[in-house]
Amino acid sequence: MYKNVIITGASQGIGKALAFEYADQISNLVLLSRNESAIESIADDITSLGGKAYFKKCDVSDIAQVIESVEYSKKVLGTIDLAILNAGTGNPEWMGQFKSDDLVKVFGTNVFGISHFLEFLIPIMKEQGHGTIAGVSSLADARGYGGSSSYCSSKAAASVLLESARVELKKYNIDVITIKPGFVRTAMTAKNEFHMPFLMDTGKAARIIRKGIEKKKSIIQFPFGTVMFSRIIKYLPNWIFDPAVRMSRKEPRK
Ligand SMILES: NC(=O)c1ccc[n+]([C@@H]2O[C@H](COP(=O)([O-])OP(=O)(O)OC[C@H]3O[C@@H](n4cnc5c(N)ncnc54)[C@H](OP(=O)(O)O)[C@@H]3O)[C@@H](O)[C@H]2O)c1
Repeated sequence: MYKNVIITGASQGIGKALAFEYADQISNLVLLSRNESAIESIADDITSLGGKAYFKKCDVSDIAQVIESVEYSKKVLGTIDLAILNAGTGNPEWMGQFKSDDLVKVFGTNVFGISHFLEFLIPIMKEQGHGTIAGVSSLADARGYGGSSSYCSSKAAASVLLESARVELKKYNIDVITIKPGFVRTAMTAKNEFHMPFLMDTGKAARIIRKGIEKKKSIIQFPFGTVMFSRIIKYLPNWIFDPAVRMSRKEPRK
């Protein structure tokens, strides 16, 4: 059980569901996202349910806002026992119209939105003598799927970064958990035009994530069918992978 929890990207989707999952008497929450009115209203709802939630506007790609958010969290919570770094972005995009700046923006949230927090959370958790950092990556980290080059490469980078952190921070009693969901029904997946197997609701995803964090799993990946599918795909030779991806994820005609 965690007393003091911060969640990034808490305004909607998986982050919002996680906020309600932790909205019991035990956890004091700080909700972070760019949409201040959304997190304010979620914090109000949590308070009316008997929980305790603070909120602060934070663009995770902006290191100055991350510093302010970590300082604010430390001030109102006292300790930061669990940080769920969930904020993420991804849009369909095709290599025929590739813009490096789009990739920079996606990495700004999905990779640097984690690394900025690592820089300021690690000293706090070292001083506390404990802490858990749970970063949300994706099962899309396995390969370069069609129509999502920036997203897949950012999640691969996030997974490897979190793995290094997990290995090295254990000696400070800091647990690092990598969360790799399959398809979850949110605004992000609503943009997808391809079939999404084993699509699940945010509430179920949040329950799986909370249970996995409580068990201190090093990797929380779900659902089982997509995990198995991703494992097979990871080791497919290119002569099978490339045409299969071209067929299953076609660029829409303009
Ligand atoms: N849905 C899926 O199938 C799926 C699968 C695998 C992994 N994931 C990962 O799960 C996480 C949550 O995704 P979701 O599906 O819940 O998406 P979502 O509904 O689009 O929510 C994304 C959240 O991230 C926040 N966010 C985006 N950019 C941000 C930024 N620069 N600074 C701060 N917050 C930012 C958004 O809040 P504001 O707009 O208010 O800032 C929002 O709360 C992401 O990391 C995503 O990659 C999702």
